[in-house]
Amino acid sequence: KIIILDFGSQTTQLIGRRVRELDTFCEILPYNKFPVGDESVIGVILSGSPYSVHDPEAFKVDLSQFVGKVPVLGICYGAQYIAYSGGGKVEPTGTREYGRAHLQWIDTACPLFKGFDQGSQVWMSHGDTITAIPASCKVIASTADVKNAAYASLDQPVWAVQFHPEVFHTTQGKQLLKNFVVDICGSRQQWSAASFVESTVAELKKQVGNDRVILGLSGGVDSSVCATLLNKAIGDKLTCIFVDHGMLRKNEFSKVMDAYRGLGLNVIGVDASDKFFTDLQGVTDPEQKRKIIGRDFVEVFNAEAKKITDARWLAQGTIYPDRIESLSITGMTIKSHHNVGGLPKDMKLKLCEPLKWLFKDEVRRVGHELHMPERLINRHPFPGPGLAVRILGDITRDKVRILQEADDIYIEAMHNYVLDDGTSLYDHVWQAGAVLLSTIRSVGVMGDERTYEHPVALRAVTSQDAMTADWAHLPYDFLARVSNEIINKVKGVNRVCYDISSKPPATIEWE
Ligand code: XMP
Repeated sequence: KIIILDFGSQTTQLIGRRVRELDTFCEILPYNKFPVGDESVIGVILSGSPYSVHDPEAFKVDLSQFVGKVPVLGICYGAQYIAYSGGGKVEPTGTREYGRAHLQWIDTACPLFKGFDQGSQVWMSHGDTITAIPASCKVIASTADVKNAAYASLDQPVWAVQFHPEVFHTTQGKQLLKNFVVDICGSRQQWSAASFVESTVAELKKQVGNDRVILGLSGGVDSSVCATLLNKAIGDKLTCIFVDHGMLRKNEFSKVMDAYRGLGLNVIGVDASDKFFTDLQGVTDPEQKRKIIGRDFVEVFNAEAKKITDARWLAQGTIYPDRIESLSITGMTIKSHHNVGGLPKDMKLKLCEPLKWLFKDEVRRVGHELHMPERLINRHPFPGPGLAVRILGDITRDKVRILQEADDIYIEAMHNYVLDDGTSLYDHVWQAGAVLLSTIRSVGVMGDERTYEHPVALRAVTSQDAMTADWAHLPYDFLARVSNEIINKVKGVNRVCYDISSKPPATIEWE
């Protein structure tokens, strides 16, 4: 496996995903948690960082733990740290260099740049610059502004790049990572969805044997794939529980229940919406809404789980990004996300998390391998508290119904808008949904009548991981059609807006 040491960069997870795309297993660990003595490590990548090597609080690592033992690639701060530790010079340039640059000169004999074109575009994002590399190193690429854009050690298997090969805007970044992971580290690229399914089903059979397993389904891809895998391993020894809190999308509960039954899952549907609506009455604060829904959810789920008296295991669709230990740099909570499923403590259940090493795109590959319906696999992420965080102000059944109608028109239109390559608009968007601005009223005119109703905001973003997101540039004709249909068909809405904010500084959800 490849170890990625995290120094707090925004793009560390992206490095992990790129390595996984090479069908190679990798682990992302905090910079100071290198697994010394682990013989399965074939290479190490050092990430970028918000710090300068000169900052007193900069993250420092003992390079001798791996340098000289396995190949090492330093990216951005990683490259600066290796240079600085080896006697090179890293200095502030005064202006931050951010954005596109081109490799004007490349050492084409260097294995890291195999297949590279001279002039290849790279993405820079740094304040400091490496002004002198250590004596035992040589430069292997330069841009117009940065002479030491990449360097390699002459006596150790160490490479370093100032730019970010993991981001989309470094055009040949995937090639560079492939050169490192496959050619230099010698990965045999053995991961495949088929082999994952085969080995995981075998492991699950061994792990849980004849015991009963319970699992909370949410309709999302992670818990659905988790259930389908377990179903393949242990059949009806798996009992699934799907709680309807009343704030799902239009008809979603019944549609998803049908899909689950079609997959042969043993699933209990619980309509607990009365409880949730009662407890949410008059609550307007977003964090308070989350807290109540989270608490109620655990209560309902646990009450249901306790009826299954022979259960020994609780399965969860936890995936790798949920578990990566993040370096707390700002230490601030923007939103408290509750994840479905609380552990009923008095039941003494053991935890089973078959997807815990997978990234989202790998979960989707496994879903395909298991022949799950496309709609379930490609479903956009949906927040646990559902439409409750897409209705500004207090929640009522009426408001939920209005939003469900508007949202349904929007999302179905997205599925039905087919592009030249046969894919739908829905597939090109990370996440989309309508938001009911129920604390606002505005004047409109319908026929001869004055209306005084709520606006609906449409939200659609493109993203890689929900950490950062750009508003999706949806076609005008699509927006026009959706706006018309919502205003004409949804009573209570007389205005539609499109949200053109990116994250940061906005967030994906409005609450
Ligand atoms: P934000 O709004 O923070 O959302 O940009 C990032 C991603 O997280 C989802 N989200 C939630 N998911 N419980 C969840 O399970 C929550 O309370 C919650 N709030 C936001 C959001 O839909 C997006 O995918």
